[in-house]
Amino acid sequence: MDPAPLWWTFSSLAVTLVIFQLFTVPSHLRHLPRVPIFPLLVSYLSGEVEDVRIKRLILPYANERGEGLVLVWALGRWMIHILDHKLAVEMTENLLLYPKELPPDGLLLWRFIGGSNILMANGDRWKKHSRVIRDALNLSIPVDQFIYLSRNLFDAINPPSEENDTHTVDFAELAQRFALDAVGSSVLGHDFDAIRTESLFVKEYNGIMQDIANPLYLIMPFLEKVFPRKEVIKRMDNLVDKFQMLLQAKRNDPGDDMMTFMLKEPTMSEEELRDNMVVLFIAGHDTSAGGLSTLIYFLAIHPEIQAAAREETLRVLGPTSDPGVDTLSAALLPYLNACIREALRINTPVSYIVPRVTAENVTLGRYYIPSNTSLIYNIYAVHHRNDVWGDPNTFRPNRFLEKTERSQILKDAWVPFASGPRQCPARNFALYEQRALAVMLLREYEWTLPADSIHQDGLKNAFSPFALTLPHNLHITFTKRK
Ligand code: HEM
Ligand SMILES: *[C@@H]1O[C@H](CO)[C@@H](O)[C@H](O)[C@H]1NC(C)=O
Ligand SMILES: *[C@@H]1O[C@H](CO)[C@@H](O)[C@H](O)[C@H]1NC(C)=O
Ligand SMILES: *[C@@H]1O[C@H](CO)[C@@H](O)[C@H](O)[C@H]1NC(C)=O
Ligand SMILES: *[C@@H]1O[C@H](CO)[C@@H](O)[C@H](O)[C@H]1NC(C)=O
Repeated sequence: MDPAPLWWTFSSLAVTLVIFQLFTVPSHLRHLPRVPIFPLLVSYLSGEVEDVRIKRLILPYANERGEGLVLVWALGRWMIHILDHKLAVEMTENLLLYPKELPPDGLLLWRFIGGSNILMANGDRWKKHSRVIRDALNLSIPVDQFIYLSRNLFDAINPPSEENDTHTVDFAELAQRFALDAVGSSVLGHDFDAIRTESLFVKEYNGIMQDIANPLYLIMPFLEKVFPRKEVIKRMDNLVDKFQMLLQAKRNDPGDDMMTFMLKEPTMSEEELRDNMVVLFIAGHDTSAGGLSTLIYFLAIHPEIQAAAREETLRVLGPTSDPGVDTLSAALLPYLNACIREALRINTPVSYIVPRVTAENVTLGRYYIPSNTSLIYNIYAVHHRNDVWGDPNTFRPNRFLEKTERSQILKDAWVPFASGPRQCPARNFALYEQRALAVMLLREYEWTLPADSIHQDGLKNAFSPFALTLPHNLHITFTKRK
């Protein structure tokens, strides 16, 4: 008898079994509500961006059933998404019960970041990284630097050699360059000069991000072992080497930046310093850039909000004076600050946090969660719950200024920097950065969305492997004010 048909039967059975295994819910999680797998798979395969998937599939499913958490299939497995800020506080406050999950090996996403840094470490090692980085970020807020870089940005929007006062530029790209220079000069201690020049770091980083985002590999991470992407790995390792070189250069030529401060820490190894540098590079620029692009977009499509923010800025700061840490405070610029808060809510830059994992069998709210289960705090979803925000898809800064009995709920449910001891250590840095560029732009320009913008029917974000919400191709027309 010909053995071929038998062989085929067996191998297709094996393949079916593997696929079945990949998508079925493990028995210990079957009691939890779960978003149907089929629409999720279609969503991943079609390259749908995170925020659209959350609004279209995850939130409606949870809302209809009144659930505070749901199982969502992603990256080859089922994970719990927490959609309720009270449950999230309970989780993020307890670092022992809910440590960060060790990333599955082989995933390119994590190879780039490395393991020995503030973002991925747990326990005493995290405490060490956290102490050093929090102290470094707490040294001072480099407002002067933000102002100086804003002026560089003016030259990129409106080259001094040109007569015309109206220019259309890709603001998403400029915001990325601005944010990189901001974190580069003051935190990493390296001037990327990204606003004025074609920075090699930006180009390589953006290229690698695009490669990582291959949907096939994101759906079936095991492919990384079967068909390793050698080219991408090489590019990634090259970029990490470049960070290593920056570090060495910094040792020989110290400055008054935070990296120089961190280099003085005797307990930090070379590898730890390098991995932290990569984390600060990624965490410190795309997030801020996403927030800034979103703010500029919503002020462009709401001229009355833009005018009110400009009126406040001119009234508080005057037309030309350089703002400083004292004059740029949230208390002195309440309306602008509300606009920034609303931008960080409606298009949450970090849609969800790095997964945590239960260390024991736990009860979270009314849910029983067995040990060794992955959990994600879905911040974007918390920022778009109907029952909390009422009109979550409307850009309405005044919601943060109204004094109502719901004010405290809104305050608690506004969590762009997450919550608990591992929330963003650079919250203050980032908010000053947003306010600094915003006041400089408001005084210098008026801006609108061009009629042919791809964002005419709503803001569109790029696909990001790190679940970052980043507007792309955001052309904005700036006109210099008289
Ligand atoms: C608007 C801008 C920003 C937003 C929305 C943001 C948001 C966040 C969020 C949600 C987390 C928690 C992540 C998690 O638990 O998995 C986080 C952590 C972190 N962020 Fe930010 N961030 C911003 C800007 C920055 C900047 C400018 C820096 C550096 C200069 C930075 C450095 C970090 C670091 C080092 C962590 C890890 C903290 C830890 O695990 O202990 N972030 N950020
Ligand atoms: C940050 O520095 C200020 C003084 O500049 C100090 O009062 C504050 O306690 C510091 N915060 C942390 C978390 O170290
Ligand atoms: C300036 O540029 C705008 C759009 O780019 C154009 O419509 C306008 O005619 C230009 N004005 C002058 C004086 O060149
Ligand atoms: C969690 O519960 C399971 C099932 O009841 C039990 O087998 C297991 O030992 C428990 N694990 C821990 C760490 O307590
Ligand atoms: C935890 O779960 C992962 C898969 O999700 C598995 O590989 C690992 O062996 C489990 N660890 C323990 C201690 O059960």
